[in-house]
Amino acid sequence: MTGSGRAGVGIIGAGNISTQYLTNLTTMPDVEVRFVADLDTDRAAAQAEAYGVPASGTVAELLADEEIEVVVNLTVPAVHVAVAQEILAAGKHTWSEKPFALERESGRELLAAAQSAGLRVATAPDTFLGAGIQSSLRLVAAGGIGPAHGALTLMQSPGPESWHPNPAFLFDVGAGPLFDIGPYYLTALVQFFGPVARVHAVTSKARAERVIGSGPLAGQSFPVNVPTHVSTLVEFESSQTAQSIFSFDSRLGRTQFEITGDDATLTVPDPNTFSGDLLITTGRDAVETRPSEGSAAGRGTGVVEMVRAIRAGVPERASGELAFHVLDVMQSIIEAGEAREPVDVTSTVEVPPPLDVDWDPTAATLT
Ligand SMILES: NC(=O)c1ccc[n+]([C@@H]2O[C@H](COP(=O)([O-])OP(=O)(O)OC[C@H]3O[C@@H](n4cnc5c(N)ncnc54)[C@H](O)[C@@H]3O)[C@@H](O)[C@H]2O)c1
Repeated sequence: MTGSGRAGVGIIGAGNISTQYLTNLTTMPDVEVRFVADLDTDRAAAQAEAYGVPASGTVAELLADEEIEVVVNLTVPAVHVAVAQEILAAGKHTWSEKPFALERESGRELLAAAQSAGLRVATAPDTFLGAGIQSSLRLVAAGGIGPAHGALTLMQSPGPESWHPNPAFLFDVGAGPLFDIGPYYLTALVQFFGPVARVHAVTSKARAERVIGSGPLAGQSFPVNVPTHVSTLVEFESSQTAQSIFSFDSRLGRTQFEITGDDATLTVPDPNTFSGDLLITTGRDAVETRPSEGSAAGRGTGVVEMVRAIRAGVPERASGELAFHVLDVMQSIIEAGEAREPVDVTSTVEVPPPLDVDWDPTAATLT
């Protein structure tokens, strides 16, 4: 079913990140946000009112709305798959926040359910559709750094418990620095180099417990159930390689994403953002700063891209297949860290060419 016109959208999960989605989606004319649902219906009502969304309530009420074609699933990682399965069972396409699933089996089941229903299971991140990564991809594809060999990426921080008022889930299975932040980096790396063939990793955890730093629960401690420092070497099918650190164990906050080619090293903007400058280093003291070009409309971009892909009858870019491959890579990194042995990655994905520079999720293209 490709349908026609703008698409009715419902949002499940009215927490922290819903503010960014509601801010953006309510101003993107190819979609119409009709409903906000949450287990906490007061929270859903407050977000609906703040963003002029006409209705709010329970998940069942949202799924019963026949004008809603696409449901944006902003729940916590532990229930992403269960909620996405409910959405598919109601005959609607789903966009889920990352991670796609906590482990491969439920991820595979979700992909299979979508395929058999003829529905989409697109998944965040959509930051790679923003100007920063797309400008970098266009430069590399045009030969701007010569043949690319590989990448170095760093994501180091003290961890999100200082600012997130309810951070325990960010240190549980399905999160930690690898599953929470890794999708931005690994999804971008797959855009540059194609699918991953094999991973090597060493993983560790600095502390067994952390303390909530803000909000009404400040001062309470909670257990750390996943590695908080992940060091990995990723081999792509193309034979190119990436070396990456994902860490919540560093007082020094730092992000770095470099692609090295024969003629230049490209410093790519933070893949957890939609924009930023490109730095092109061709030699000692020879660094060119180039602003990124294209849309930097923020979270919700991928929802609009999926809606347009549904209408056009073509695959969406932030696809379930891409998200499953990234999940498979992350799971393989955890397994490689536990076994202290390389792990082969068996899933794969096709990577489309970069978006045109004038692609714009804020334009009205569906009438
Ligand atoms: N907070 C951020 O900065 C951020 C950034 C990018 C991505 N994300 C992702 O967004 C997702 C949500 O994160 P958050 O920070 O907004 O979390 P949150 O805890 O602030 O909000 C989650 C909301 O989902 C609701 N919920 C949970 N289970 C539900 C269910 N079964 N049915 C209906 N509602 C349910 C909760 O009541 C809560 O209101 C996570 O997957 C996270 O990885 C968060």
